[in-house]
Amino acid sequence: MDKIIIHGGKRLEGDVRISGAKNAALPVITSSLLTDGWNTFHNVPDLADVRTIKRLLTGFGVKVEGGKTLRINAGEITSCEAPYDLVRTMRASILVLGSLVARMGRARVSLPGGCAIGARPVNLHLKALQAMGAEIDLKDGYVEARASRLKGATICFDISTVTGTENIMMAASLAEGATVLENAAREPEVVNLADVLKGMGAKISGAGTDVIKIEGVETLRPVEADIIPDRIEAGTYMIAAGLTGGDVNILGCRPDHLDAVTTKLKETGMKITPIDGGLRVVGNRSITSVDVKTLPYPGFPTDLQAQIMALMSMGGRSSIIKETVFENRFMHVNELIRMGADITVDGNSAIVRGVSTLRGAPVMATDLRASASLILAGLVAEGTTEISRVYHMDRGYEHIEEKFSFLGADIGRIKG
Ligand code: EPZ
Repeated sequence: MDKIIIHGGKRLEGDVRISGAKNAALPVITSSLLTDGWNTFHNVPDLADVRTIKRLLTGFGVKVEGGKTLRINAGEITSCEAPYDLVRTMRASILVLGSLVARMGRARVSLPGGCAIGARPVNLHLKALQAMGAEIDLKDGYVEARASRLKGATICFDISTVTGTENIMMAASLAEGATVLENAAREPEVVNLADVLKGMGAKISGAGTDVIKIEGVETLRPVEADIIPDRIEAGTYMIAAGLTGGDVNILGCRPDHLDAVTTKLKETGMKITPIDGGLRVVGNRSITSVDVKTLPYPGFPTDLQAQIMALMSMGGRSSIIKETVFENRFMHVNELIRMGADITVDGNSAIVRGVSTLRGAPVMATDLRASASLILAGLVAEGTTEISRVYHMDRGYEHIEEKFSFLGADIGRIKG
């Protein structure tokens, strides 16, 4: 398995270009299942998770061509089964369920199983499809769903669920009648998907708010569309600039998707100003400790919690970081402690007491965003940090060591 080696202490400066968003690309690529003909998607990131969803669609008999510009034709679907060996590597595979049932009347999708950051059940996806008339059975670790034609329904999600909202929005696009999603997720990735579906001819209103209305249609046509830039990747590089006292232009990002992040990082002392095509982030010599509470969008994103914890590890005082979305998203804490961080976890809160230095050490990535926080800590730590299990990182960060090297970091990958 590959390792990342970082010799800390370099100040980052220069330009970094943000890639397409993983969490937009996955549902948008899946939506091609709803159409017959060639779809073209631009700005698709080169990530392990994108390769997984492409493999899943190919397994359904779908034609998939290209990379950054992806062409997909789901005219011929010869299988409706998403196998365990693929689904277990990427929980977002559950996104194919709604589209397959809507387009083909049936689907057999492996249950994702557990995940490092939490149980992450899919009960809300299944309950919503049942409300739309699908028959759902759980057999041999698989979800088996059938519906001659889904019927529109009013669905109120117990919890705001991003992929749940996306799954049902896709299913409802081809259902008979109207569907109303209440307590819907408001993430920009949901809006990107809604825009793509509308381009296909879907009748959707309210995306980006917590009430989304979908009027089902008979068929949807192929579309050409762009994937939005990755706000979590952008936030990761913003925090890297703050940690290293750097001066970095974050190019190709959508500042309007980063309001909660920008507001919070300014409180830590960073100077963040809009520039042509993105944001300029200038770190401060001293980092102000601030409290953070993760929330569904537009609140501070859970996917940047591990990264801001690395920043707070070097804060001037103490900060309390409260994780409200997932029940076990502090797997990075013990690894940061091994680098000299002073962190105490109490339930879903972490008390982070700032230290003056972190020390490089051999550490292990446990999940995608934890791996990013270890890289951030390594950038500022004294000495050498060696990060193992970087396959977690490769799921969601495109060419991360090249991008950091280009900014002046002393970082490399040892192929293993
Ligand atoms: C999406 O996951 C993202 N993944 C996650 O990003 C992100 O952390 C999460 O939303 C929250 O923003 C993709 O978009 C592919 P949820 P998702 O359903 O949809 C509970 C990353 O690092 N829940 O919004 O799986 C769930 O357990 C990844 O890029 C149920 O109880 O998250 C969680 O506590 C990690 N039952 C809460 O809701 C359900 O049926 C929010 O989860 C569904 C969810």
